[in-house]
Amino acid sequence: MSEKRENWGSKLGMILAMAGNAIGLGNFWRFPYQAAKNGGGAFMIPYFGALILLGIPLMLVEWNLGREGGKYGHGTLGPMVYLQAREGVKPKSAAVLGALAGALAFAVTVLVNSYYNHIIGWTLGYAWMSATGGYMDKAVETGDIFVKYIQSPGRFIVFWVIALGFLGFAVMRGIQAGIEAWAKFMMPTIYIFGILLIIRTLTLGAPVNPDWTPIAGLNYIWTPRWDALNWTAALAAAGQIFFTLSIGMGIIPNYASYLKPEDDIVLSGVATVSLNELAEVILGGTIAIPIAYTFLGEKGLKSGVGLSFIALPNIFRQMAGGQIFGTFWFLLLFFAGFTSAIAMYNYIVALIEEELGIKKTTASIMVFALYIILGLPVGLEAGLTKTADLAVLSELDNWVGSYLLVILGLIEVIACGWLMKDKALETMNKGSYWKVPKWFFTLFIQVLTPVATIILLFFSTKDYISQGYFNLIPEVYIKAGLGSWALFARILIVLVLILGFYQSYTSIKKRY
Ligand code: PHE
Ligand code: NA
Repeated sequence: MSEKRENWGSKLGMILAMAGNAIGLGNFWRFPYQAAKNGGGAFMIPYFGALILLGIPLMLVEWNLGREGGKYGHGTLGPMVYLQAREGVKPKSAAVLGALAGALAFAVTVLVNSYYNHIIGWTLGYAWMSATGGYMDKAVETGDIFVKYIQSPGRFIVFWVIALGFLGFAVMRGIQAGIEAWAKFMMPTIYIFGILLIIRTLTLGAPVNPDWTPIAGLNYIWTPRWDALNWTAALAAAGQIFFTLSIGMGIIPNYASYLKPEDDIVLSGVATVSLNELAEVILGGTIAIPIAYTFLGEKGLKSGVGLSFIALPNIFRQMAGGQIFGTFWFLLLFFAGFTSAIAMYNYIVALIEEELGIKKTTASIMVFALYIILGLPVGLEAGLTKTADLAVLSELDNWVGSYLLVILGLIEVIACGWLMKDKALETMNKGSYWKVPKWFFTLFIQVLTPVATIILLFFSTKDYISQGYFNLIPEVYIKAGLGSWALFARILIVLVLILGFYQSYTSIKKRY
């Protein structure tokens, strides 16, 4: 711990790395199908509500947690939350709360990345296929091509391992030469590819049906539809805000721990949110949805998760310049996913470095092995069961990628707003260009944000119960013959949570 903690090299590099952390497949792959599935214009209303009620306040809370934790040499959430919680409760309770936070962040970074890395691998594989004409043969349905891709180990494993190798290599080089350098290259490229794709999208005309134009596709998500507003859409919107901003994952605080004690966090946090939203609603919303609408009408938007990997390739092979734009699209997805996965990867590397005193290079190799071992069952499921339903991936996404995030966010905002109170406002504003006003802290961080998070958690729980997710093995998986795969995922989640709790608790005890 005596070594000096690494820092970001420049403010621009830091912001790009943070934006890279937030901007991911969530913006380009998850957002369009969530918006489409939940009624378009009916989705955007709760979406912006959640951005203000949850997104911005929690982002500030996380930057503050991270920068303060970094002062004590911590890049992980357990001790970070402990340090804040002990301002308001007994050290023992603070340690339990910290360990709970540490366990959740550990579960997210270990388990979300083990499926997310596969999707990154798919994007790289599809970029390659776009460039080489791999799905251009109109005699084969793009749905079949996709299923074949994920079912053949020989195909998906190659690109998955390449992507993981690049990730390990990037993290190994450290904060400045690794993470920051890759973000400086990849982030501007995302915006350039995005703008080129938007121009192509908006000039598609109406090749299939005179009513199906890119503008009609845009109207679909941008016309507010108050009447179609419901709880399902609101829950999905709030969940999307958590996911897209990387909130409740521990990775924003980890990046913030490499700030210097006097570095601004308020303006930088808001800048990160803005860059993410620009990439989400402008780039993410103006590419996939209007393209799908132009070629397939409203029913094209119902293709859910398959939008990016099935519907769009089918369109790329029909449109002029499709091979080039297909390559841009999948490379854009790859860069976006990559710069987020680096953050998850780095979290575990930081944990190993700080807790076990192991060198970064060795730690990076250990994490590479961990992701291979955990990722294998996730990846092989499709091939072994010969279905395209992925029970392990869905279970990990349902619980770790959607549900646990909210619990973690709740712990963080309680530690900040209810336990640390005014002292948190003081630290937040240290060195900041914009000052968070007292009324904002009281109204949002102490009242509205925790209350909204509790409501979100309550209704999500109700929703999960009614869908049968709280049964030992949910009906949906049993029907699909994937019961044991789902059970496997669940056991894995519980084990990782226990391990994470034990690790965080003992580490807090040892240090304080
Ligand atoms: N914010 C990321 C996104 O939008 C979420 C994420 C981060 C997922 C890191 C996985 C790893 O995609
Ligand atoms: Na995002």
